[in-house]
Amino acid sequence: MCSPEHFAVEYAINPWMDLTTPVDRELAVKQWDRLRETLVGLGHEVHLLAPEPGLPDMVYAANGAFVVDGTVYGARFKHEQRAAEAAAHRAFYEAQGWRFIAPNETNEGEGDFAYVPEAHGGLILAGHGFRTELPAHAEAQEALGRPVVSLRLVDPRFYHLDVALAAVDDANIVYFPGAFSTASQRVLAQLFPDAVVADDADAIAFGLNLVSDGRNVVLNSEAVGLAEKLEAAGYHPVPVELTELKKGGGSVKCCIAELRH
Ligand code: ARG
Repeated sequence: MCSPEHFAVEYAINPWMDLTTPVDRELAVKQWDRLRETLVGLGHEVHLLAPEPGLPDMVYAANGAFVVDGTVYGARFKHEQRAAEAAAHRAFYEAQGWRFIAPNETNEGEGDFAYVPEAHGGLILAGHGFRTELPAHAEAQEALGRPVVSLRLVDPRFYHLDVALAAVDDANIVYFPGAFSTASQRVLAQLFPDAVVADDADAIAFGLNLVSDGRNVVLNSEAVGLAEKLEAAGYHPVPVELTELKKGGGSVKCCIAELRH
């Protein structure tokens, strides 16, 4: 995770970013800290990446890389404003001794890649359409040695895979079908017949932008309807308030880069 000490909405690269809406940075830091404490309270080890001035979106740590089986596939951001974040993530992984593979293709890390370890022996789900480019999916498959399923995102509000789909446990997912092309919806229905299906309201509340340990699902507190659906499906929703970071177009999952050994 990376503290929002320098967080701001200084440019607009997704439909949620509105340069005229004021951001309370102090509150952003408080809310982010509460999220960090929630993860620690659930037993997770949280490493911190040092935030850098001039990189206001660095708090969205999920976009800096994608890690599977101890191998890191690096990010290459679509927008110039975020390009420099990739090097900070790379330095973190290299300093910690992870096997790092530098990308040639445009991709925004866990923003557009999800991993479902027990689905079909270990499946990578990958989004394209807005940020990550299709050739990066093939590059990720070669880097990580796991099958990559390409899914096309069609709604600009859900410009990253991680605002439209999430793994809720080692074998299942939750997703909002409307964010995907008709063909990709069909692919998801075939691969995950038991998925938790979210609706437009859940997605707009950033409910899909969640992290789960298989039981506890940490999600945006505004996503009340999705929390109910998850509870009915046997999970334990853990709501957290992230109103300020939502103004940048992100929530829980965006703030967390998962380290998978
Ligand atoms: N303002 C950031 C951007 O548009 C938000 C990134 C959100 N992160 C995510 N994993 N969806 O790039």
